Amino acid sequence: MLRGCLQHATSFPSASSSIRSNITMADRQPSVFEPQTDLESFHTHLKKSKRVLALLGAGLSASSGLPTFRGAGGLWRSVKSTDLATPQAFARNPGLSWQFYNYRRHMSLSVEPNPAHYALAKLARKMPGFVTLSQNVDGLSQRADHPSDRLHLLHGTLFDLKCSDERCDYREENYTDPVVPALAIPADQAQPAGSVVDISDSMVALPSLTTYDLPHCPECKRNLLRPGVVWFGEALPEVVLNKAKDYLAAPENIDLIMVIGTSAQVWPAAGYIGQARARGARVCVVNMDSDAPPGGWKQGDWMFAGDAAVLVPELLKPVIG
Ligand code: APR
Repeated sequence: MLRGCLQHATSFPSASSSIRSNITMADRQPSVFEPQTDLESFHTHLKKSKRVLALLGAGLSASSGLPTFRGAGGLWRSVKSTDLATPQAFARNPGLSWQFYNYRRHMSLSVEPNPAHYALAKLARKMPGFVTLSQNVDGLSQRADHPSDRLHLLHGTLFDLKCSDERCDYREENYTDPVVPALAIPADQAQPAGSVVDISDSMVALPSLTTYDLPHCPECKRNLLRPGVVWFGEALPEVVLNKAKDYLAAPENIDLIMVIGTSAQVWPAAGYIGQARARGARVCVVNMDSDAPPGGWKQGDWMFAGDAAVLVPELLKPVIG
């Protein structure tokens, strides 16, 4: 398997390399250390921190009204969202794939960034050594004015479109909703409320589509456009991987990594937790669940269980006010 490709942690055949061993399921064993849960010790550490990383996942946008991938809400018309996120799914049924991604674009445009997106954006403006690695493709951090030079999108964005043929380098930024008229969402399926009811409802008939109805590449004029997100088995954007690599390789240590709203089950994103640790970072997890991060808890870690939209502004308060 290629190291820069999007993969589930569980798909590793063995923990044969030190980097891989950070994210095998075997590492999710009871830790000997218990994480701290008090705000005060976290605030003390944050105030003296200079280099801080944030690793973001779908849970950050959950209270805005967007479903996460795993657990409740991780279904779309009875298909697992993760099963649709592959080049094979697109090749097999581009109409279904486009209906799924058009729906996610629509949902993302229908909701608003929450206080955690704004708090992280504010921290990025206040702390020059703060860098965010986001797995989210929903555009909410960008809409919260997170400085773009400090926001690295590991999995791309729903609002980039590119030619589905790798030999054609056409790419565009596109916020049109629906992407093409044939993908318009029937009014009774369009509300973001709770997200689960409508998108998982396989009883609601979808319009039947032909490839002619789907967006085509205006450059090569032969192939379909596809969403500019990273699918399982695909390489992450090289420029983003290099930014992360440079940050981790800098001579100064990293003080802290905040792991916010992610199940940390997907490679290579999950591996950044171990890599930051190796550069001295203490780990702070913010999540609805209190699961240990890959590699388990270590002395000096923090776990704040609850809604990121509430907790993150509270955690960052001493720096962002
Ligand atoms: N606040 C904090 N955490 C939350 C909240 C919330 N309000 N709601 C849910 N969570 C947590 C869940 O407990 C879970 O651990 O967010 C996490 C979401 O995990 P996933 O659904 O696995 O999403 P994520 O980790 O972002 O997935 C990674 O997998 O499918 C691919 O490419 C896709 O970027 C995605 C990647």
